[in-house]
Amino acid sequence: MCSTPEESLLSQYAAADRKDTHSYAEPSKAICTHLDLSLEADFEKKILHGSASYDIMHEGADEIILDVKALGISKVTVDDNEVEYSIKSNDPIKGSALHIPLQSNSKKLTIYYSTTKSAEAVQWLEAIQTADKKHPFLFTQGQAILTRTWIPCQDSPGIRISYNAEIKVPPALMAVMSASNTTTKNANGVYSFEMKQAIPPYLIALAIGDLAFGKVGARTGVYAEPSLLKKSVYEFGEMEKMLELAEDLYGPYLWDRYDVIVLPPSFPFGGMENPRLTFATPTIIAGDRSLTSLIAHELAHSWSGNLVTNATWDDFWLNEGFTVYFENRIMEALYGKEYADMLSLLGHQDLEHEVKDLGAHSHDTHLKLNLNGRNPDDGMTDIAYEKGAHFLRMIESKVGRTEFDAFLSTYFEENKFKSMSTTEFEAYLAKNLLEPKGLTMNTQEWIYGPGIPKNCPVSSSNKFDIVEKSLSTFIENGTIPEDDLTDNWTTHEWLHFIRSIDKDEDSKLFHVLDTKYSFTQSGNSEIAAAWYEKAIQNGYYTQIIKDIERFLISVGRRKFLTPLYRALKEKGDINTARNIYAKAKQNYHSVSTQTMDALLLD
Ligand code: BES
Ligand code: ZN
Repeated sequence: MCSTPEESLLSQYAAADRKDTHSYAEPSKAICTHLDLSLEADFEKKILHGSASYDIMHEGADEIILDVKALGISKVTVDDNEVEYSIKSNDPIKGSALHIPLQSNSKKLTIYYSTTKSAEAVQWLEAIQTADKKHPFLFTQGQAILTRTWIPCQDSPGIRISYNAEIKVPPALMAVMSASNTTTKNANGVYSFEMKQAIPPYLIALAIGDLAFGKVGARTGVYAEPSLLKKSVYEFGEMEKMLELAEDLYGPYLWDRYDVIVLPPSFPFGGMENPRLTFATPTIIAGDRSLTSLIAHELAHSWSGNLVTNATWDDFWLNEGFTVYFENRIMEALYGKEYADMLSLLGHQDLEHEVKDLGAHSHDTHLKLNLNGRNPDDGMTDIAYEKGAHFLRMIESKVGRTEFDAFLSTYFEENKFKSMSTTEFEAYLAKNLLEPKGLTMNTQEWIYGPGIPKNCPVSSSNKFDIVEKSLSTFIENGTIPEDDLTDNWTTHEWLHFIRSIDKDEDSKLFHVLDTKYSFTQSGNSEIAAAWYEKAIQNGYYTQIIKDIERFLISVGRRKFLTPLYRALKEKGDINTARNIYAKAKQNYHSVSTQTMDALLLD
């Protein structure tokens, strides 16, 4: 049997385990292969308007279906002729299906449109919400299924497109994308971009603001608002080294440059791995490079996620579990095993908490998820991240690091620019690693079973043992640890110290600790957030509520918001939580408000 390249490309989507329940697209019939995007950003009206043109591939299909949500479409053309399109279904999570009729030889389609106020991907910030407070700012967040709120597209991680874009912005602002970028502003406010490699639509990203560029190394650099640039370049000074270490581990970096943009504090995530240009929260700028494992994480996605992409959001662990594993290997190569072990132990604690929260028998603790009918955001738990990473560590411990590294390098090389389902990965693992070595292991239990399997590897850390001892001595007889000891503690040791405090300690203890270590005033966002959560849980918070409020108003990172609002709620003080949220909400991106609305307003 012979098949054309088109047929074989399209037919891969027919497999049952590749069915993406979060997209209306029917890729086995017709797919978009390249996007030409042309948009103007209107900061007065807070809309993006223009057109999206696609090259398409099909075998005589009579229509192509795109995902759209909250877009105002004015016209659709196919090969330059206006056509009658239809918009079907209206799902609160998935949005709608844009059906466009095709002829057997149709090659190109163009959608003329504008975004609306409800574009969930896009956050329009006033000048006051930025670091320099002089100019407005815009950024988009596509993952998981929000790109369809600013670009009509086949919004499925199993579908890949290359893109070119032309973005017009007001004078004084600069646009950057997950593509080739310039490093300076230009006079006419029109910026052109090219992403040659095919990427899933969730990785298309745009940021517009008063930006400056600072070089870190030959292939790496930072975009930030002018007042943050110097600090950011220092904080991320090891990026070039990380990139080289990552290549030493798993093969060449295939995206040319690796830059990071520091966004305003409302960015709902720590980082987002938009190719060539990671989007990052300013809350990782601690002044001492102590939170840069996040950069290692987003960089690692340049292999796991961006080269080899989860086929559907049910396979999310293939993106995040691999990335946490890879991130830890980069940190080990950079700072040594002792440092990496502290990070993986904190990860193991996160995993235990997550399993407890979700319930040890919950299906949401399986690596392979079933998110049909739900928001894919529901799958964004530490299961994908930490159970996924620990699964890979378990395999590594059985086959040995050398073999496992060789396996992973080949995996990335052979599957680059493709998507991967969980079943495909299982088959790949069996064929290329387990069977040749005559090994069997409980992969089924890890992937399709609940909770934490018995053979989950847990690192040990002398440094953490010392932290635990210091804390228990302090709690038992009030002896504050020696300054000589704590002066050398890293952020991770402090985090472990704070996390190890029981939920029902006396609030006096918090007062003593706070007087000695000023956790409430910490400039390190991870330490501050961990401290505030413990403090609320232990009833030491009316004293410091103004600081907690300041933090919640200025930071929009969901990972910090959820535990703090939840702790207030669980303490029976939902009123305080709601009052703060009422003031803070306008600073949050839709990703965060959706979660906080569900937590606080139901
Ligand atoms: N890709 C994720 C962020 C994400 C996941 C956005 C799912 C939307 C849906 C990113 O790589 C990530 O995992 N960020 C983490 C940091 C990381 C060090 C664990 C974050 O933002 O906290
Ligand atoms: Zn990630």
